[in-house]
Amino acid sequence: MNLIKKLGIIAIGAVLMAGCTPKSAVTQRSDGSTVSESSATESSKTEAAADTNKDMKKIGVIQLVEHKSLDIIYNSFKDELKELGYVDGENAKITFQNAQGDMANITSIVQGFEGDKQDVVVTIATPVAQGAMSLTKTTPVVFSAVTDPVGAGVLTDMNAPDKGMTGTSDAVQIDKIMDLALQITPDVKKVGFIYNPGEDNSVTNLGLLEKYTKEKNLELQTVSISTSADLQTAAASLFEKVDMIFVSNDNTVAEAMPILTSEAIKAKKPVYVGADSMVMDGGLATVGIDYTDLGKETAKMVDEVLKGKPVNEIPVKVFKDDLFIYVNTDTAKALGIEIPDSIKNDKKFVEIKSNK
Ligand code: TRP
Repeated sequence: MNLIKKLGIIAIGAVLMAGCTPKSAVTQRSDGSTVSESSATESSKTEAAADTNKDMKKIGVIQLVEHKSLDIIYNSFKDELKELGYVDGENAKITFQNAQGDMANITSIVQGFEGDKQDVVVTIATPVAQGAMSLTKTTPVVFSAVTDPVGAGVLTDMNAPDKGMTGTSDAVQIDKIMDLALQITPDVKKVGFIYNPGEDNSVTNLGLLEKYTKEKNLELQTVSISTSADLQTAAASLFEKVDMIFVSNDNTVAEAMPILTSEAIKAKKPVYVGADSMVMDGGLATVGIDYTDLGKETAKMVDEVLKGKPVNEIPVKVFKDDLFIYVNTDTAKALGIEIPDSIKNDKKFVEIKSNK
C-alpha cells in the first residue's frame, strides 16, 4: 500500500493550498490518485440517519490516516464530547472521515463538508489542517495535534488565531528526548534522522534537532522518505552509519513504526521517538505528552465553538508541560541496553511493554 506516497507528494500541495490556490486542489486530484471520492465516503463511520432535528450539532472530523496516536486522539476526543453532552445520533451528528494519507481525499472530504455544512470541522494532524484552510470561509475549524501551527501556516498568532482555525498543538520536546537518549546511551556520537519532508511538523523538528546536535557536537545524518514503504531500506542503510536513529512525530514513519523497530533490533541500535504510541510500537524511549489529554482538550474547544465563541478568541493550547518518560523495556532488553535507575525511579517514568 502506497498511501503515504501520496501524502509525500500531496502534502507539498497542502502547503500550496494553505496559500489558497484553488488550482492546486485540481492538480492534486488528478495527480495519479486512484482513490475516488466514493471510497472517501465509504470510510465514513457515521451511523446517524437522516438528520431532521435542527438542533442536531453537525461535527465533521477528518483524520489524516490510521496510526496508533491519531486513533488515540480521535477516540478520546469522541469520549470527551460525550462527557460534554454531545451524543452521536441524538443531539449531535458526528461524521468521521479517514483521508487514508491522501491529500486528494482531504480535498474531496472538505468539499463534502462545504456542501453539507457542518457546525464545526475537526482536523487531525498537520496536513489535514492545511488542506482544510478553504473551509474556514464557511465553517469554524478546530485542529488537533498540529506540531507547529505557525510553521504550518494555519495561523500567525497562537493567542488570537487569525485564519479561522484554532486547536491543540503537540510541540515535540526535542531537547528533552535527546537529553534522555544521551543519558540512556551516553556513547552516541552520530545521530540519524528519518522524516517525510512533505510533513511540516517534521521540518520544524528537524530544525530543532539540528540546533541540538550542533550545540552538543554530535554528527547528524538525515534521510528523507516520501512513503512508509521506503522506511525499511532507509533505516537499514542509515543504521550502518549512525549510533542511533531519532524519529519525531512524523505520520509517515509512525505508520510503519514496527518495521523501524525490527531494523533497530537487527542493527542492535536504539531508536528514540517523538510520541508515546511509537514506544508502544517498539521505539526505545521518548519524553512526551499523553495524547488522550490532547484529544480531550480538542473536544472542549469544539464545545466552546458550538456555544458560539469565535475561533479568534480561543488561544491554541500547546501540550508541553505535563510530560512523561516512556520507555519500552522489552526493546531495551532486545538491544541489551540497561535503563539507569535514575530514570526508572522518576515519578514520570512509564514502562511500556511491546505486546501491550
Ligand atoms: N503532530 C503530528 C502532525 O502534526 C500528528 C501526530 C500526533 C503524530 N501524534 C503523532 C504523528 C504520533 C506521529 C506519531 O501531523
